[in-house]
Amino acid sequence: MDKKLYFGTNLKMYKTIEETVSYLKKLVENTKDISRDEIELFVIPSYTSLSAAVTSVDRSFIKLGAQNMCWEDQGQFTGEISPLMLKELALDMVMIGHSERRHVFGEKDREENLKVKASLAHGFDTLLCIGETLEEKEYGISPEILRTQLKVGFHGVSREQADKIKVAYEPVWSIGVNGIPASAEYAEEMHKVIKNCLEELFGEKSAEIPVLYGGSVNPGNAEAMIVQPSIDGLFTGRAAWQADDFDKLIRQAMNAYEKR
Ligand code: PGA
Repeated sequence: MDKKLYFGTNLKMYKTIEETVSYLKKLVENTKDISRDEIELFVIPSYTSLSAAVTSVDRSFIKLGAQNMCWEDQGQFTGEISPLMLKELALDMVMIGHSERRHVFGEKDREENLKVKASLAHGFDTLLCIGETLEEKEYGISPEILRTQLKVGFHGVSREQADKIKVAYEPVWSIGVNGIPASAEYAEEMHKVIKNCLEELFGEKSAEIPVLYGGSVNPGNAEAMIVQPSIDGLFTGRAAWQADDFDKLIRQAMNAYEKR
């Protein structure tokens, strides 16, 4: 394949420790014949499952990440998890700014920026999630919103750090049970906006930043999404939470990409 494809899932507030471990083991079994030169696969379990996850999975097959992180190393931040705590688990990556963090828990771009900088400073691969709401889309300002989320989110991040960054474009209106999947054409258009903005921020190094599409990815739209030139991977929720289904989706997308 002429580019590496990225496949990831965020398990949100689903799966117990036991369920997470058996899911991960099955996913490794299912997908281990696929060369990791061709794909990168990552899973982002709940905090309570992370410790068991890191000891039960070969990270050359599946990278593991956290769903959120505080920007401070320690302090009076009840209920938060610090970069040092995640480092102790030797996690590969940290996800910042998922739509549910922004819209259910009220996180703002400025906080996402503090978290992104802390995550990179501690050496984690850092996945910044961005996306416009339906209202913003209807006002015709999606590009402005995405550019703002990127420019604030990555403010103060150096070009040298670009190889530790991933971006997930997840339109808020397309996520979850009530989500309407974006069309592949619309997703491609927004991915182009994102890639142009990343180039402004990181110059040539932006070519190293994978941009994944997320929001109601399913077997019916995975192929159309992955063949878009500016889409480097799929960030999947519900359709990936059974290992067999995720494995099928990955293979389906890989085939479509090869045949495009
Ligand atoms: P979904 O979730 O695929 O279930 O819409 C996507 C996400 O929230 O990352």
